[in-house]
Amino acid sequence: MVNNSTKRRPLIIANWKLNGTSAFVSELLEGITEQWTGVHQAEVVVCPAFVHIGQASSVHLAHSNIALGAQDCSQFEEGAYTGDVSAEMLHDLGCQFVITGHSERRRFYNETDALVARKFDLAHKALMTPILCVGETPEQREAGETLAIIKRQVGAVLDYCGQEKLGRCVIAYEPLWAVGTGVTATPDQAQEVHAFIRQLLGPAGQATRIIYGGSVKPENAEALFTQPDIGGALVGGAALKADDFIEICKAAEL
Ligand code: 13P
Repeated sequence: MVNNSTKRRPLIIANWKLNGTSAFVSELLEGITEQWTGVHQAEVVVCPAFVHIGQASSVHLAHSNIALGAQDCSQFEEGAYTGDVSAEMLHDLGCQFVITGHSERRRFYNETDALVARKFDLAHKALMTPILCVGETPEQREAGETLAIIKRQVGAVLDYCGQEKLGRCVIAYEPLWAVGTGVTATPDQAQEVHAFIRQLLGPAGQATRIIYGGSVKPENAEALFTQPDIGGALVGGAALKADDFIEICKAAEL
């Protein structure tokens, strides 16, 4: 049950990362759509790997209310950039959302704040909703730098795109010490950062959905969602199991 006074629609996003064959994707989506009737209010998005987007879009999601997203997009619009997938291409395949600045992209591919801002802007221009991921490392939290890091990461996109545009998108707070570790931020720790992000967004931020990511499971979802500024979740590992994912979606129902 999401508890927020302005009634922002709860948002649950599955980030499947680098997982699955086409058979696995079929099975997972069948499992989710079979239990789908139990989810009424939450907006639900799945983000498969690029190569599975077409399959998910045409075979499984065409007749459901589940939206499709991508895990990343190119920093370029088109041209000689071998291996890249543009925001326009993703929109053309039916994607409505794109994750930008995930900590794994920042960490393993050296994505900078400036690059993330550029991708965020291109996703927006291609008529999709960018999901901006921000979060601190364990060392940064230990050193008391959490809010400064969040301010820098959100600030880079604010400077590039402006409050209006960022306010209409989604921000995911994913502390690196909680991503894939089994350790979840406590509801209070997460709420503190979510409220801080909303404050950074100014008046445009009242309607913004700010969601939490990092070891979200059926057992901890509801306690997170009852915090006033937590509007849903970006789910990794637990989104690879249909039953767990649906339980998390149900915990977010209004
Ligand atoms: P886990 O839920 O596996 O911790 O992953 C979170 C995440 O990175 C979602 O983008």
